[in-house]
Amino acid sequence: MDMDEFIRSIPKAELHLHIEGSLEPELKFELAARNGLELPYASAGAMRAAYDFDDLSSFLAQYYEGMSVLVTEEDFRDLAMAYFERVAAQGLVYVEMFFDPQAHTSRGIAFETVISGLRRAQQGAEDVGIRSQLIMCFLRDHSVESAFETLEQAADYREWIVGVGLDSDERDNPPLKFREVFAAAREQGYRLTMHCDVDQQDTTEHIRQCLEDIGVERIDHGSNAIEDPGLVTQLVERGIGLTNCPISNSFVGDGTKAGVIRALHEQGVLVTVNSDDPAYFPGYVADNLAVLQREADLSRDEIVQLVRNAFTISWLDESERQAYLDRIDSWVEGTH
Ligand code: ADE
Ligand code: ZN
Repeated sequence: MDMDEFIRSIPKAELHLHIEGSLEPELKFELAARNGLELPYASAGAMRAAYDFDDLSSFLAQYYEGMSVLVTEEDFRDLAMAYFERVAAQGLVYVEMFFDPQAHTSRGIAFETVISGLRRAQQGAEDVGIRSQLIMCFLRDHSVESAFETLEQAADYREWIVGVGLDSDERDNPPLKFREVFAAAREQGYRLTMHCDVDQQDTTEHIRQCLEDIGVERIDHGSNAIEDPGLVTQLVERGIGLTNCPISNSFVGDGTKAGVIRALHEQGVLVTVNSDDPAYFPGYVADNLAVLQREADLSRDEIVQLVRNAFTISWLDESERQAYLDRIDSWVEGTH
């Protein structure tokens, strides 16, 4: 088995996937037609060719604009089902998936419409061998009040959501802005994570706030921790993992950060490889692993360690986690 085949077939998890960021142009056109909406491009190819972003805020503008075609429960179901079918073919067996309710409720789409559609797809995904859990993200460039309202809307669906996250534009929106919201979410039993996107202003201070003030259980991106040995020590000692996204990094910042991800791994940080917004930063989970493998010259053993890390830091219960880790071990055995 060659390296690419090894990467594609090993049973994998991803923990950093914005479901709205998996909306491919072809599906945008299908949903637009179904909902009687016009798109300002002649074709999916033309739309893709017009994508133009080189940092977080220019990406986000196009990401939010793209969501206008998501209107009905079926749209959200079809969006997530398209993702599941695609990654089933890349060996994905487990995903913790972000969704951004405020990006929809702010357009007049009901919270219930969004989560019911996603839930139906999650049930469908079990048929293609993928187990999934939802993480609800608050948009950090919206107000604290809006985050609290969203937390309240989620209460009726508490059992459907494993944790909460924080995403969108990081500039001038530090973790501390949402300290009370995250404290309330923790009280309600949600697991906690937050984005510290690559190369953002004040990034190491944001990572520090996540670790010391908010008490997150993992950090999304967070690879700038390498700049501060004290942060790396905390990550290692507390077993707080990072959800890294190599292809996304090369759009939002400077390069894939493969060397940094490798160095963090060598220093004992539980790093993982994920796709972030695969329809925009082209590449799904196996593609991201393949890019990292090539750029950081990872061995098969190191690939296995990174894949195991994702299950280790996942929000599965212990027996399920162990079952997946055993499954990886047997799969690796079978390749010898
Ligand atoms: N929302 C969707 N993708 C994101 C990213 N990479 N960073 C912050 N917010 C996001
Ligand atoms: Zn992200």
